[in-house]
Amino acid sequence: MDLLVSRRSCRSFTDKEVSKEVLDKILYAGICAPSAKNRQNTKLLVFQDKEVIQQLSKLNARVMNSDGDPFYGAPIVVVVFYPNDAATGIQDASLVMGNLMNEAYAQGVGSCWINRAKEMFEFDEGKEILKKYGLEQYIGVGCCILGDPTGEPREKTVDTSRIIYE
Ligand SMILES: Cc1cc2nc3c(=O)[nH]c(=O)nc-3n(C[C@H](O)[C@H](O)[C@H](O)COP(=O)(O)O)c2cc1C
Repeated sequence: MDLLVSRRSCRSFTDKEVSKEVLDKILYAGICAPSAKNRQNTKLLVFQDKEVIQQLSKLNARVMNSDGDPFYGAPIVVVVFYPNDAATGIQDASLVMGNLMNEAYAQGVGSCWINRAKEMFEFDEGKEILKKYGLEQYIGVGCCILGDPTGEPREKTVDTSRIIYE
């Protein structure tokens, strides 16, 4: 409970490496998310190469006509995809994203959901990447950036009036 209510998005990272052991735990938590009919048909593309991440960042920025870095210099980017014929693809993939971010926080790793994962892979360069991994029939839901966080997470304020009892 403490972890779930205190997790915050992280948008600034140190140079310290996230170990493979910790990354694997985060990824495993991601694929343990529930899926409709237990189909488990989401895919996670894990990027750690600096140049490839820069290329992805540019694709993401292009969607917004921006020249900034939407990945905030994160050293790891996990893109979560679902098959384009999956009726509950967005729901399934979003739960994977949630698990990734929560387990990242539990492991002391900073994370943030970065949007535009669908549009990035609609550019020719994005399609090439999908082809490389045989994911031409998949749609991106979110990019989960990961890295060693700078500073402490900010305090969270939550609007509890959103819970409406009958
Ligand atoms: C669907 C979704 C898309 C998001 N897209 C972005 C994004 O593109 N860039 C970004 O910096 N944060 C993005 N976020 C992070 C939200 O801004 C963040 O979760 C929200 O402000 C609440 O803050 P917290 O995560 O620290 O509790 C996204 C979050 C969600 C759930």
